[in-house]
Amino acid sequence: MGRMSGPVLELLLPVDRAANEPLHAQIERGLREAIRDGRLAVGAPVPSSRALAAELGVARSVVVDAYAQLCAEGYLRARGGSRTTVATTAATRAAPRSTTAGGAPTVAYDFHPGLPDLAAFPARAWASSLQRALRRAPHAALGYPDPRGIPCLREVLAGYLARARGTLAEPDGLLVCAGIVQGLSLVCQALRARGARRVAVEDPCWIFHRALPIHAGLEPVPVPVDQDGIRVAELDGIAADAVIVTPAHQFPTGAALAPHRRAALLEWAARNDVLVIEDDYDAEYRYDRDPVGALQGLASERVLYAGSASKILAPGLRLGWLLVPDALADAVATEKIHADLGSDVPGQLALADFIETGELDRHLRRTRRSYRSRRDALIEALHTHLPDAQIQGIAAGLHALAVLPSDTDEAALIANAATRGVSVHGLSWHRANPPTGPPGLILGYANLPESTMEHGIRELALARGQS
Ligand SMILES: Cc1ncc(COP(=O)(O)O)c(C=O)c1O
Repeated sequence: MGRMSGPVLELLLPVDRAANEPLHAQIERGLREAIRDGRLAVGAPVPSSRALAAELGVARSVVVDAYAQLCAEGYLRARGGSRTTVATTAATRAAPRSTTAGGAPTVAYDFHPGLPDLAAFPARAWASSLQRALRRAPHAALGYPDPRGIPCLREVLAGYLARARGTLAEPDGLLVCAGIVQGLSLVCQALRARGARRVAVEDPCWIFHRALPIHAGLEPVPVPVDQDGIRVAELDGIAADAVIVTPAHQFPTGAALAPHRRAALLEWAARNDVLVIEDDYDAEYRYDRDPVGALQGLASERVLYAGSASKILAPGLRLGWLLVPDALADAVATEKIHADLGSDVPGQLALADFIETGELDRHLRRTRRSYRSRRDALIEALHTHLPDAQIQGIAAGLHALAVLPSDTDEAALIANAATRGVSVHGLSWHRANPPTGPPGLILGYANLPESTMEHGIRELALARGQS
């Protein structure tokens, strides 16, 4: 094996003198790949032929030949006398940084906001819970379940929610469902069946908060959100039958509903006889602020609470729960019967055991620590590579919002990021009227190893330079 070169101007360009491939061809191939996968950006100068030859320990003519070939192919552009640069035509030749066999870009840095650390799923403890619970359960437990959820899970969940989230929960008021999506869908259908027409939703909001009412035949009415959460005063006059809110950690801005707004929201809902639907999707994760208790604990007959295992364990479990006010309990249970006759029993048994044996608390303690470090790594990377981004919503949850200067082309940035293997959500995707408000990115950090955070954000900054 011959000597391999060291990096050249931040570019690893290995040259193997013992290989059959001529040296100029090796250099051509290395540069072609660097241009294709974006390590050498369009317009970037390449080293002078003299400097590169010296760095690689080859004759200058070898590099001159390689550059001439790449100019002929349209990858490089030589301007008489000045530096050779990566040609703009190279952009059309540039393949995505990494592609699947079918040619679609693969995602190396997935900042999808919905995911917890999937690699940290406590598979062994979960499997033990499942095994233990199945062993103990009578055969009858595997018949058609109580559509509201198996009694032992409702009992255990009621206790967990009361202690961890401050809810006023009786097992009878609980309904186990397939995640918050199914829960909200059942509630919207039950409301529609009672003659409801309009549901106020936060703007911006989680896309399903608008989609599920529409699917049930209800009209979602957007109400703006600011740094204190939903602007309660703007609920007046829209004749909503219900309002969907994320008080602990607004999605996507990350704001906590301020105490004066919490009081005002409950007061407005009581005055107008409106149901408040509280989506508490990621409230267990908070880092530098006191826990914000659930609204439901303040007004259990006015607030319908929705929680989920998707962030605290994994979305693939499809387990969620509702605390339904008495007046709506039967109607929602009826919708659940029509949807699927009740949720999967082994999953419910496992969750009950997992909570009862303290495994959930242990898992939360562990993941809280690691998510906090990942969040800190993300913030540091943003400060370094996107210093003009305004970072919001980082005190809790599993994602941050990076608001960008108003002249940023959000769509182009996201598209360019995708070609560099970076997947991000745009803030505009979550707005009722996309062109309004500043551009921004929603960055989920929980499912990315801390060591890759910096690279991912650097790629994002490079993608921004491209747009
Ligand atoms: C605001 C909000 N609510 C709820 C969920 C979770 O829904 P589910 O429990 O159906 O997985 C998410 C997931 O990303 C979310 O962002």
